[in-house]
Amino acid sequence: MADIRFPDGFLWGASTAAHQIEGNNVNSDWWQREHGHLPGAPVETPSGDAADSFHRYPEDMALLAGAGLNAYRFSIEWARIEPEQGFVSRAMIDHYRRMVDTARGLGLEPIVTLHHFTNPAWFAREGGWLTDASVDRFARFVEAALPILDDVDLVCTINEPNMVSVLADPAVGFPSIGLPPGVPHVTDRLVDAHKRAVELVRGAGSRAGWSIATQAYQAEPGAEQVAAEYGRSREDVFLDAASGDDWVGVQAYTRTKIGADGPLPIPDDAERTLTGWEYYPPAIGDGIRNSWARNGLPVYVTENGIATADDARRIDYTRGALGAVASAISDGIDVQGYLHWSALDNYEWGSFTPTFGLIGWDPRTFERLPKPSLGWLGEVARAGAVADG
Ligand code: FCB
Repeated sequence: MADIRFPDGFLWGASTAAHQIEGNNVNSDWWQREHGHLPGAPVETPSGDAADSFHRYPEDMALLAGAGLNAYRFSIEWARIEPEQGFVSRAMIDHYRRMVDTARGLGLEPIVTLHHFTNPAWFAREGGWLTDASVDRFARFVEAALPILDDVDLVCTINEPNMVSVLADPAVGFPSIGLPPGVPHVTDRLVDAHKRAVELVRGAGSRAGWSIATQAYQAEPGAEQVAAEYGRSREDVFLDAASGDDWVGVQAYTRTKIGADGPLPIPDDAERTLTGWEYYPPAIGDGIRNSWARNGLPVYVTENGIATADDARRIDYTRGALGAVASAISDGIDVQGYLHWSALDNYEWGSFTPTFGLIGWDPRTFERLPKPSLGWLGEVARAGAVADG
C-alpha cells in the first residue's frame, strides 16, 4: 500500500474547549452545577483547576507547533467575558486576543469557537436556551467578542448544537451512548443564534461555520427509514442549517447501528474505548459524507479522537480515521483540515478518566507530558501524508 497523501494547504491541528482545560471557570453554569449551586443532573467530579491551560496556553501551543502541527482550535469562554449580564471584561477580551496572537506567532492557524457547551451562570439562571431571550443574549456576547476575532479566518459559532439542544434540559445528564432527540424549540433557537452569529462574524471579515456531532447512524438491512428518521432531529437538521455558511465542522468518534426498533446495543465482543463507545475509526468518513450530501460545504474535521490509556491505540485509531478522510477526499469531497480531539487530556464533562489527549500532564505540577501520538501526528502534518504501515 502506498502512503496516503493529503492536499497542499491542509490544516493539521488539535482541538480543545475552554472549560475542559482552563480551570477555575467559576462563573459558568457547569462550575455552578458541579458544586450543586444550579439544578441539574449530578456531576461526578468537578473541573477544578482542569489542566490550568488558562495560564499555560503558550506552552501548550508551543508543543503543538513544535511537533509539526499548523492549526489549533480553542474556545473562548462567555462566562469569563461576560461574567454578569451586561458587564464585558476587557481584560478577558485581551486574554483571548493574546491567545490568537500567540497561536499566530507560533505558526498555528487559530480556529476560534465562540460557544462550547458552557454558558454563564447568569444565563442559565435566566432560563438558558429554554427562553426566547437567549438568541439576543448570545448575539450581544458575539458582538462584544468581535475584537478577539480580528484577522481570524475560521470561526465556529456553536460547538455541537445537537448536544447543546440535549443539554439545554438541566435534568438530562451527559449522554454516553447514542443521543436523545434534543428539545425542538431549543434547536430552533440555536439555529437562529447561529445565523445571527454568522452575520456578525462575517461582517468582521471571518469565515463562519458551526461544528456538528455526527454519529455514523448505520441502518441494519430493512431499517433504512428508521435510521433516516433517527438521524433527522439529531444530526441532519443541523447539517441542513449550515447551508449558506462558509464551511462546516464535522466531528465523530463512533458509530450507532440502527435496527427496526432504533439504536442497537454495542455487541459484547466489540472493542470499547474509555468512554464506553465502540472503537470504530471510519466513523468520521460517514459524518463527512452525510454533511457533504446535505450542504455541499467545505468540511473541516473539527474533532476526532479516542479516549484510551494506550497511546499506541490512539495512533491506530487516528491512522484509521485519516484513511476514511482521505477516501472522502479522493471521492471529490472538499475536506480542508483535520483537528484531533484533543490537544490535552482534559475534563470530560464530569470526569478526568477518559483521556483523549496528545499531551498528558502531571496532576500535581501541571507539567506537560507529550505522548508519542503527538509526535506521530506532527510527522503526518509535516509530510502531508500518512506513511504506509
Ligand atoms: C464532543 C465534545 C468535546 C468532547 C468530545 C469527546 O462531544 O465536543 O467537548 O467532550 O466530545
